[in-house]
Amino acid sequence: MKIKNVELKSPFILAPMAGFTDCGFRSLCSSFGCGLTVTEMVSARGLLYKGDGSKALLNHEENESPRSVQIFSNEPQVCEEVISSGVLNDFDIIDINMGCPMPKIVKEGMGSALLKNMDLAGAVISSCVKSSSKPVTVKFRIGYDKNSIIATDFAKMCEQSGASAICVHGRTKSELYSGSSNWDIIGDVAHSVSIPVFGNGDVLSISEAREKMKIFGTSGVAIGRGALGRPWIFAEKTQSEVDVPKIIKKHFEIFLKYYSEKFVVLNMRKHLACYIKDIKGAKIYRQKIVTSQNIDEIYGLIDEVFSK
Ligand SMILES: Cc1cc2nc3c(=O)[nH]c(=O)nc-3n(C[C@H](O)[C@H](O)[C@H](O)COP(=O)(O)O)c2cc1C
Repeated sequence: MKIKNVELKSPFILAPMAGFTDCGFRSLCSSFGCGLTVTEMVSARGLLYKGDGSKALLNHEENESPRSVQIFSNEPQVCEEVISSGVLNDFDIIDINMGCPMPKIVKEGMGSALLKNMDLAGAVISSCVKSSSKPVTVKFRIGYDKNSIIATDFAKMCEQSGASAICVHGRTKSELYSGSSNWDIIGDVAHSVSIPVFGNGDVLSISEAREKMKIFGTSGVAIGRGALGRPWIFAEKTQSEVDVPKIIKKHFEIFLKYYSEKFVVLNMRKHLACYIKDIKGAKIYRQKIVTSQNIDEIYGLIDEVFSK
């Protein structure tokens, strides 16, 4: 399938997750056949004015292809400037976050706050489309709360503003992650626009994703939490069919190309907790693995856990 002129390896893509979809994790997902990777959300303003912290989120491996960068902003002019600056040039697609429910983002009028301000959302999308020859996509939730489900109208607005595809998480901003993703509404969206629609929410395997596409008519499915600690999900493999210690070490190796050992050890903790969560008997190792400061010691513990 294609998003404008960008061919995807498969319709099953990685959903962006702040703190998790780092360059190491994305590269692993790509190596297992993930159709498209998306960075963690990056502040457009941060990229223009704050420098290193935001720019570090743009680190990527060459095997991560095609790759999308997700920006968040409610300022059309800033979007235009950040795209024109060339800082996003290494990415094939530019995605705009219009679904983040985090108070510090919403309070500033960004993320899912834009669900309440369709004119401004449209202006942000148009400014990105105008400034870039690359496809621009939008990820959003189905509405702000249960009394304002606006998913199909929002989708049409995205299409009219020039978006080349959209990704819809079937929850409202108010629901955060409670309840379940409303795939009926995602299906309504899929039938209301002509651009590709990726459905998102609560999908834990590619077979489930395939089923969702068939039932609800989406062009693809974005998988988030279902891929955590399981990047091999995109190859439809199970934990017992892959060499997990090797994969974890690869994740460390990629991370170490870009960051200090101290930073890597700290940031790998949440990934390590995910990698070992399904291992029976790993409980006694968990504390040791996630508190260790030393990579060789972590590697030893990982080998021990997975040899059992
Ligand atoms: C820890 C975490 C971080 C997230 N960060 C982002 C983000 O940066 N941008 C975004 O659009 N969505 C973000 N999301 C939402 C996911 O992309 C996805 O929409 C949501 O988790 C539902 O899909 P899932 O059930 O497959 O996880 C995040 C979700 C989680 C759990």
